[in-house]
Amino acid sequence: MVSLKCLFTGIILCLTNPLAHAQNIGRKIKINPYHYTIQKDAEGKNGMVVCAHTLAAKVGMDILMQGGNAVDAAIAVQLALAVVYPGAGNLGGGGFMVARFGDGKRIALDFREVAPAGATEDMYVDKKTGEANLQLSQEGHLACGVPGTVAGLFAAMKYAKLPFEKLIRPAIALADKGFVISEREANALNSTADEFRKNNTSLPVFVRQGGWKAGDTLVQKELARTLTRIQRDGAKGFYEGETAKMIVDEMKNSGGIISFADLKNYKFEERVPDEFDYRGYHIITMPLPGSGGVLLHQMLKMLEARPIASYGFHTAKSVQLITEVERRAYADRSEYLGDPDFIKVPVKTLVSDTYLKERMADYDSAHASMSAAIKPGYIKESDQTTHLSIIDKDGNCVSVTTTLNGTYGSKCVVAGAGFLLNNEMDDFSVQPGVPNQYGAVGGEANAIAPHKRMLSSMSPTIVLKDDKPFMVVGTPGGTTIITSVLQSIINVVDFGMNAHDAVNEPKFHHQWLPDQIDVEKDFPADVCRQLQDMGYKINERKPWSHTELIKLKGGTLYEAAADKRGDDDAEGY
Ligand code: DON
Repeated sequence: MVSLKCLFTGIILCLTNPLAHAQNIGRKIKINPYHYTIQKDAEGKNGMVVCAHTLAAKVGMDILMQGGNAVDAAIAVQLALAVVYPGAGNLGGGGFMVARFGDGKRIALDFREVAPAGATEDMYVDKKTGEANLQLSQEGHLACGVPGTVAGLFAAMKYAKLPFEKLIRPAIALADKGFVISEREANALNSTADEFRKNNTSLPVFVRQGGWKAGDTLVQKELARTLTRIQRDGAKGFYEGETAKMIVDEMKNSGGIISFADLKNYKFEERVPDEFDYRGYHIITMPLPGSGGVLLHQMLKMLEARPIASYGFHTAKSVQLITEVERRAYADRSEYLGDPDFIKVPVKTLVSDTYLKERMADYDSAHASMSAAIKPGYIKESDQTTHLSIIDKDGNCVSVTTTLNGTYGSKCVVAGAGFLLNNEMDDFSVQPGVPNQYGAVGGEANAIAPHKRMLSSMSPTIVLKDDKPFMVVGTPGGTTIITSVLQSIINVVDFGMNAHDAVNEPKFHHQWLPDQIDVEKDFPADVCRQLQDMGYKINERKPWSHTELIKLKGGTLYEAAADKRGDDDAEGY
């Protein structure tokens, strides 16, 4: 049974009892995978975990209570998500981790997938017609980038306290013994059944004869064995030996190109986080190949020059300003951003005050700009992903976003190994000007090349105030990731919202092309009408993003909000 409970019952017990914090430390949490309750909001002083699934959030909380730090919890949560949230939680994808530790140190781990050695710039372009075949970049074996997640988890171990062998145990148990699925998961699996059938030679465990329903138990024995190999052999348990052989066999049998050498040579990168100030707050976020760092920096700086709080929340005036800022930043994304190990990106110029002032010079507060006229700025110098936010009692903050790209990625399950492979190759620009599955267009900067990382929108972010943790935030959502993180920050900093409202208020999104403002269904209709009068095209879309936000409530008390748009869950103590 899965039920939804929107308040803090479990947590209130320990908040009202002064001895409770001490009593909780060292105690094991009882996790019942066959009966659990989803909790949307939480408070706590000692540790917070927000992620896409209750069971994974509880695994993280258990690790914190047993003396693990936020990195330990993040590793255990990511591994648990790979089991209980197969649409996005993953072993076969990649991601980013941004962390800021209690002693002030910050890191940005890049474990993004890379293009296989055999990839070529025009690998998705039909030789006869000259047109891009997006079917191939979005589904099936040729769409898979070389996975980075497992390498990333082992890279993070440098900052962990507990042994990996212990952190992976809950995931193994959940895969081996199974867990009860929610209605949302049942529907998602059922609606992908045909694609699973089409892209796999043997029927994966995700397809059930007669269909899934809420309350059914999903058991993943093959995945449990893969996790056990990783527990025993470390990263080699994935990138070499039996698991690698299964991945390569899978490729050979179905037209994919990932080789043994691709797997063995995969390397994570430690990057330097993007950092900047916004109205007295300090933002720490993911640099390239994540585009969120540059774009958040650009957009927040363009906004900082204007008194947006006085325009009011969800007024035509504030929405129009944010839209115009988004339009300009996304135009630059399409032209300039890509893997910094392959191309020179003029990041300093793109975020400089002079450039951003110039960028907004033609901003007209009464009328819509036209994307056709905006173009990327002139520079002289050359629906799946998942996020987890964690903070521990020592003020260590960890913000992790990982992805398979589309829901259930390429839809290819590695036969015998039980995990899904990503379809991340579609995040490259497969042909100049051809939109990917999120409508993003790009050119040379994000063209395919062997070993290159495809540009990402994932934006795990940490916000400090007075050099102390203030907010940990991130979300899935393709190109909407960056505007969702942006709106979460503005909602808190400019509009004074609590965590719950900052996450759950309706959102809007503009990404330069297509030239339209996407709005969620419950976005105020009168604001849409006013924007239409100013010349904007409004496009209503089903809700997007699952934002996971932790925020300092006051004193030493944190509040966390798990997005209402999914089965996401918040825990705290
Ligand atoms: O890295 C990226 O930008 C995309 N692969 C993210 C995809 C995503 O967020 C899908 N979620 N709904």
